[in-house]
Amino acid sequence: MKALQSPVLELIISFLFILECVSATPNPKNHPGDLSALLAFKSHITSDPHNILTTTWNPNTSFCSWTGVSCSRRRPRVTGLQLDSLSLAGTIAPEIGNLSFLAFLNLSKNAFTGHIPNSIGSLRRLKVLSIFNNMLDGPIPAVHLPRLRSLSLFENHLVGPIPPIIFSIPTLEKLSLSTNSLTGEIPALYLPRLRFLRLSYNQLSGEIPKELGEIVSLNFLSLHENRLTGAIPSSIGNLTQLNHLYLGSNNLTGDAIPASFGRLTKLQFLHLEGNAFQAGPMPRVILNMSSLVEINLNFLGFSGSIPTDFGLHFPFLQGLYLARNDFSGPIPGFLSNASNLVVLEISRNMFTGSVPVSLGDLPLLQKLNLAYNRLSGGSISMLSNLSSLIYLDLSYNELSGTIPSEFKNLEKLQELHLTGNRLEGSIPEELFQSMINLGTLSLDQNMLSGPISSYVGNLTRLQKVTLAENALSSTIPSSIWGLAELILLDLSHNFLEGYLPAEVGNLKFSTLMNLSSNRLLGFLPITLGHLPMLVNLDLHNNSFSGSIPQSLSNLISLSLLDLSSNSLSGEIPKSLTDFQYLTSLNLSFNRLEGELPRLRFLSLSYNQLSGEIPRELGEIVSLNFLGLHGNRLTGAIPSSIGNLTQLK
Ligand SMILES: *[C@@H]1O[C@H](CO)[C@@H](O)[C@H](O)[C@H]1NC(C)=O
Ligand SMILES: *[C@@H]1O[C@H](CO)[C@@H](O)[C@H](O)[C@H]1NC(C)=O
Ligand SMILES: *[C@@H]1O[C@H](CO)[C@@H](O)[C@H](O)[C@H]1NC(C)=O
Ligand SMILES: *[C@@H]1O[C@H](CO)[C@@H](O)[C@H](O)[C@H]1NC(C)=O
Ligand SMILES: *[C@@H]1O[C@H](CO)[C@@H](O)[C@H](O)[C@H]1NC(C)=O
Ligand SMILES: *[C@@H]1O[C@H](CO)[C@@H](O)[C@H](O)[C@H]1NC(C)=O
Ligand SMILES: *[C@@H]1O[C@H](CO)[C@@H](O)[C@H](O)[C@H]1NC(C)=O
Ligand SMILES: *[C@@H]1O[C@H](CO)[C@@H](O)[C@H](O)[C@H]1NC(C)=O
Ligand SMILES: *[C@@H]1O[C@H](CO)[C@@H](O)[C@H](O)[C@H]1NC(C)=O
Ligand SMILES: *[C@@H]1O[C@H](CO)[C@@H](O)[C@H](O)[C@H]1NC(C)=O
Ligand SMILES: *[C@@H]1O[C@H](CO)[C@@H](O)[C@H](O)[C@H]1NC(C)=O
Ligand SMILES: *[C@@H]1O[C@H](CO)[C@@H](O)[C@H](O)[C@H]1NC(C)=O
Repeated sequence: MKALQSPVLELIISFLFILECVSATPNPKNHPGDLSALLAFKSHITSDPHNILTTTWNPNTSFCSWTGVSCSRRRPRVTGLQLDSLSLAGTIAPEIGNLSFLAFLNLSKNAFTGHIPNSIGSLRRLKVLSIFNNMLDGPIPAVHLPRLRSLSLFENHLVGPIPPIIFSIPTLEKLSLSTNSLTGEIPALYLPRLRFLRLSYNQLSGEIPKELGEIVSLNFLSLHENRLTGAIPSSIGNLTQLNHLYLGSNNLTGDAIPASFGRLTKLQFLHLEGNAFQAGPMPRVILNMSSLVEINLNFLGFSGSIPTDFGLHFPFLQGLYLARNDFSGPIPGFLSNASNLVVLEISRNMFTGSVPVSLGDLPLLQKLNLAYNRLSGGSISMLSNLSSLIYLDLSYNELSGTIPSEFKNLEKLQELHLTGNRLEGSIPEELFQSMINLGTLSLDQNMLSGPISSYVGNLTRLQKVTLAENALSSTIPSSIWGLAELILLDLSHNFLEGYLPAEVGNLKFSTLMNLSSNRLLGFLPITLGHLPMLVNLDLHNNSFSGSIPQSLSNLISLSLLDLSSNSLSGEIPKSLTDFQYLTSLNLSFNRLEGELPRLRFLSLSYNQLSGEIPRELGEIVSLNFLGLHGNRLTGAIPSSIGNLTQLK
């Protein structure tokens, strides 16, 4: 300690310190082979937005201190490179294969391009290789990595077959190659320690290897979204540790649920949707798989009825997906015994009978879809007990009776679809007072009558309101024009009356407004031109009068405009012809006059148009409908019309 106080020694120490800082030669402690490999790696990086390598990877310092580099404790050799989620771009330098002590490599969630270098085959100590979520292309190198435990290459653009050598690494526990463009068959495998195998979202073909059934440690197996054919090997039933099984969206045939699946008593997730399995009744063996949390049998051609006691077998069930099959008979009454159900999706089947009362007894249910069945009967009020419900779809059934006012209890509901039933009576005002989270209200094609309550304006989150094809009457409540988030408003084909107020211009996000076939009258408000997002405006079959407002030319997104069958008069605004996206314009059955504008789609029949038919019409080669009859046009039909070869 005393020595330190000597000024000479202090001088020497500071000199040495300066020397270390400014030394022109790289840090002598750095292993030269590892150093040059790291510098080569750095030199292949073309973008380092967080300046990780640019600032800390300085050869004058020990590379063991560089960000993302770790070294072994005993000697300064690189054992780990952890450079994930840094937005790095560039290629992976082949020199990486010179890091002969490397055990851990994580370059995931970056923007690396190019091939995975074959030199990784030299990394005999590698245990973890994780380069998922990049933009790598080319094939997976056919290299033997004898100590590899985890290989994650998902979410890249890798092509070609899976090299068989990858499928015979005795130490491998986790393998994920999903979401690439891999082709060819799944190679024969020897992976005795594998727990996790994910090959989904590729273009793999051929059959599922039956040897998979020998990997008894497997608890996650995902092969969905490939082009696999043949039957599910019964050996899969030997995978008694399996928790997750995803085989959907392939072209598998044979039994959907082989009898051996009865042994999969730990299975929680079973997804078999969208395959070409043998049709017929749901195999009863599924009832033995009592740990199931999620069952997806959508789109498999199953028929017959579902066992009434189905729900009793699945105390843990949270998601049941049976949509797009041919199931018939009643909805099983004991579904409520699966009291953890969160999603019940059984749309597009042929279920008959009424909605079972017990369905009201699923306190955790958030999504209920029974659409496109043949459900009938009057009462659906029990559904008002589903206090967690967010999404309810009963569209296209044969339900009768009224919309239960008890639905007001569904305070979390965001979407209510009752389209295409035989519901009658008025829309209960209570719904509008309490369903404050409602974003979509679809009640079209029923027999609803009475006025629309002005309380509708209390549902400030409404985005889609479709009440078309009912018998609603009275005026449109003015509060509807205060729904600032409204995107879609379809009140067509009712008996609504009165004027369209200037406030219609408040619906700034509106893309579709269909008020056709009602009894609306008066002038079209100028503010209709204040809806910049409007794509479809359909006001046909009303009694609107006056002229077409010039302001409509502000509707820059407009694709369809139908003002036909009203009592509009005056000239057609010339500006209408300037619409960039307008593909369909129907102004027929009005009292419009003046010269014919140069339009795209044309239906202008039954007006009082005069002058000649413009020759330029023949240039609108996409025109497939042209209606000009019932006007006062003069002159010859231009021969250019003969060029409209699409005309129907
Ligand atoms: C390393 O030290 C030398 C000598 O001071 C210096 O010129 C050089 O810029 C340093 N290198 C880096 C990458 O900082
Ligand atoms: C590699 O990095 C990714 C992205 O940060 C991370 O999710 C993953 O767990 C890491 N892999 C390993 C084996 O640590
Ligand atoms: C490092 O790797 C490159 C490319 O893989 C190779 O050509 C070179 O011989 C290696 N250098 C050393 C020192 O091992
Ligand atoms: C399932 O495992 C048993 C015992 O290991 C074996 O005898 C049987 O052949 C296997 N079944 C299939 C279908 O592979
Ligand atoms: C599925 O296989 C059948 C015959 O087995 C074939 O006709 C069909 O085209 C295949 N479908 C797809 C999507 O590959
Ligand atoms: C399914 O369960 C039934 C009764 O619980 C039992 O008799 C049958 O052996 C089981 N099947 C399988 C394949 O385990
Ligand atoms: C199953 O549900 C029915 C009807 O909801 C009920 O009566 C019965 O007690 C339930 N059984 C069990 C075992 O939970
Ligand atoms: C709905 O809940 C009420 C009150 O909790 C209860 O009395 C009624 O029986 C329930 N109805 C159904 C169908 O579960
Ligand atoms: C609900 O709507 C009614 C009728 O438009 C209105 O009088 C009332 O103020 C609204 N309530 C709230 C909380 O917005
Ligand atoms: C408006 O509604 C009517 C009848 O409900 C329908 O025929 C028409 O296609 C709809 N218009 C648009 C643009 O969707
Ligand atoms: C016109 O609207 C009325 C309802 O106001 C409806 O009864 C009639 O069928 C509609 N006409 C056409 C052709 O759609
Ligand atoms: C029809 O189209 C051809 C080729 O586009 C053009 O040369 C010709 O003038 C057109 N005919 C008429 C009558 O406009």
